[in-house]
Amino acid sequence: MGAPLRISAARSPSYFLPFLIGLLSLTALFLYQVDSFVSRVKTVAGHNLDPTPWHIFPTRNFDEETRQARAYKIIQCSYFTCPYTNTTTTATPSRPRHSKSSSQQCPEFFSFIHHDLEPWSRTGITKKHVMEAKNFAAFRVVIFKGRLYLDLYYACVQSRMMFTIWGLLQLLERYPGMVPDVDLMFDCMDRPNINKTEHSSMPLPLFRYCTTQDHFDIPFPDWSFWGWPEINIRPWNEEFRDIKQVSKSQSWSRKWPRAYWKGNPDVLSPIRTELLQCNHSRKWGAHILRQDWGEEAKAGFEGSKLSDQCKYRYKIYAEGFAWSVSLKYIISCGSLALIISPQYEDFFSRGLLPKKNYWPVAPDELCQSIKFAVDWGNVNPSEAQAIGKNGQDFMETLSMDRVYDYMFHLITEYSKLQDFKPVPSSSGLEVCVDSVLCFADEKQKQFLERSTAFPSPSPPCTLQPANGNLIKSWLQQKQRVIEDVRAMEKQKV
Ligand SMILES: *[C@@H]1O[C@H](CO)[C@@H](O)[C@H](O)[C@H]1NC(C)=O
Ligand SMILES: *[C@@H]1O[C@H](CO)[C@@H](O)[C@H](O)[C@H]1NC(C)=O
Ligand SMILES: *[C@@H]1O[C@H](CO)[C@@H](O)[C@H](O)[C@H]1NC(C)=O
Repeated sequence: MGAPLRISAARSPSYFLPFLIGLLSLTALFLYQVDSFVSRVKTVAGHNLDPTPWHIFPTRNFDEETRQARAYKIIQCSYFTCPYTNTTTTATPSRPRHSKSSSQQCPEFFSFIHHDLEPWSRTGITKKHVMEAKNFAAFRVVIFKGRLYLDLYYACVQSRMMFTIWGLLQLLERYPGMVPDVDLMFDCMDRPNINKTEHSSMPLPLFRYCTTQDHFDIPFPDWSFWGWPEINIRPWNEEFRDIKQVSKSQSWSRKWPRAYWKGNPDVLSPIRTELLQCNHSRKWGAHILRQDWGEEAKAGFEGSKLSDQCKYRYKIYAEGFAWSVSLKYIISCGSLALIISPQYEDFFSRGLLPKKNYWPVAPDELCQSIKFAVDWGNVNPSEAQAIGKNGQDFMETLSMDRVYDYMFHLITEYSKLQDFKPVPSSSGLEVCVDSVLCFADEKQKQFLERSTAFPSPSPPCTLQPANGNLIKSWLQQKQRVIEDVRAMEKQKV
């Protein structure tokens, strides 16, 4: 089409005009093609993705950039950032040599990895399982020869997806050559979705941030361990260090002998709504405050420093729309954590034991139960302090090193169940550290860079073999202690 045009244009100047029009329309056609291509490229920052149909939220706005700049960025970050790879020749990165002696036992709660994967222990995880789970997933992760390939289906709220993918990329950095090939589906919204009753004939393996005893969803560390820039929560190791330091600066006797909660009650959480009723210092021993993230953001988050919230002897944890990332910060204070019996569990909360690391609060008699805990603690200060300290120690054990170890073992155990060889799908796009940074805005970049992982000098902790009885007796013990506390409450009345 181009060649005859050029020839006719050369022959006579009167053909020049059609030539120019032809050229312009070709250019327009090309730009149109680029535009339509760009409008289809889905990105880890959320471009061209709709919210999940099972949990609608406002779509993110990218209109701070011009259309052209956005197109350039999408193409640049998606296609020209990760080093060129020929997957048929790239060798798996060589394993670092670790002295076996330096490996320690994983924390006991890592046993839940076996528990979570038990539904597939006999059938294995087939390609069909994975493709069925796709119907509930926001994205698909394939790790192949130490590289990560992503298929994106739906957007995730705020920067969750970016920070979750970043976490996986850091795992690859931390244990080069050790993370096995894997093909998994991930949903990033709050509530578990694979109901055990409805999916009993074919359990679907779906990763997300929490689960319940009635769901097959597989819990995985949430994005906030690497940071949550929208509400100014920094990477976990930084937050923990600061919270612990501030909490140490105030002795137990000088902490307020009251229970404290500050959060957003408007998240369709019946328990948080009810908690507002307990806001009475003398009557219920509780201070309940509303967190307005919009206002906090305007004030530069000065009023919401997590470490400033440790001035109380008792800190309440209440679930939100599902589990809440606030749990780890609340327990880190070293105050006595009053946990309102949760329905949802994340990967680590299952390791907490009532009256050892926290105090269990009954959801049905909420204010009375809080009041009972506060009175008990004020009468038994050394016991209350010891439980608070045990909680803080538990969170200290959950360092980023252990978070990576959990991810490592979960992915490794999952991969052992796959009865197929994972390969990147034809639509999968490689994502690497540089491409995530390329998409990140200034603030996100700061948070991401601060949570960079380096190759581990020691191997991952040693995972105990599967032992169903261990989990069973663990859950029974937990239940017994909670019943003891309920009995204590009844006696008081
Ligand atoms: C990748 O490497 C293989 C083996 O050396 C070679 O046959 C193949 O042509 C390469 N592919 C590309 C796209 O360069
Ligand atoms: C699971 O599904 C069953 C049957 O539809 C329903 O009765 C039950 O409430 C569901 N469970 C949860 C936790 O949603
Ligand atoms: C709880 O009570 C305090 C003091 O009376 C008040 O300042 C605060 O706004 C109340 N909290 C809520 C959520 O209403």
